[in-house]
Amino acid sequence: MAIELAPAIRAALVARLDEEAKAALDGGGTVLHCDVMDGHFVPNLTIGPLVVASLRKALPSTILDCHLMIENPNDFIPAFAEAGATWIAVHQEACVHLHRTLQLIESHGCKPAVVINPATPVHTLDEVLDMVHHVLVMSVNPGFGAQKFIPGALHKIKTLVEVRESLGLSFRIEVDGGVALDTVGDVVRAGAELLVAGNAVFGKGDIRENAKKLLAAARAAALTRA
Ligand code: DX5
Ligand code: ZN
Repeated sequence: MAIELAPAIRAALVARLDEEAKAALDGGGTVLHCDVMDGHFVPNLTIGPLVVASLRKALPSTILDCHLMIENPNDFIPAFAEAGATWIAVHQEACVHLHRTLQLIESHGCKPAVVINPATPVHTLDEVLDMVHHVLVMSVNPGFGAQKFIPGALHKIKTLVEVRESLGLSFRIEVDGGVALDTVGDVVRAGAELLVAGNAVFGKGDIRENAKKLLAAARAAALTRA
């Protein structure tokens, strides 16, 4: 499956969101990752449907990948769908009725996805893997950007590749947290295809160049994948 870079707009300068998002897309990003935090499920606050709607207006055809780090996600799925989200990902840990929540996302015309925290085993997803567009493996504990990559995510990515193969499924595998030039090779070789990167793209230096370099490193690693 093709490697794609998903710049995480949380790390962009909000006052110049449109410009910075476009620079990241110009550098090869094909998906914009929107981190939604509610101050309850994670100890931080970020954006809501208003910002997603505004991005949608500025970028009518870009994939908007909404990562909901919120409690009671069912209450907000309709609003994110209405705002123009393309993909909506919910945390396994935040959903009492995960199957129903994934159905709800689908019923609103978005692609459903599920996320697991570092402490959550892959096998908790066995019964929903045939319903999801992608599985997002957190490689940091969610809530903050620029954290250190947790290597335990690698074996989870490998397990997902094996399970996908053995069940004949086609969900994609995304990784989020601490993805940068020094870690991207390992995540790609493990089997991740959708690469979320906040700090490594928007942190310092030229956004377009940062995205370009990260994607080039990812594609080079994909060539060495077993
Ligand atoms: C963490 C967020 C991540 C974060 C990634 O809670 O879900 O998407 O923005 O940022 P970096 O790439 O800086 O770790
Ligand atoms: Zn995220």
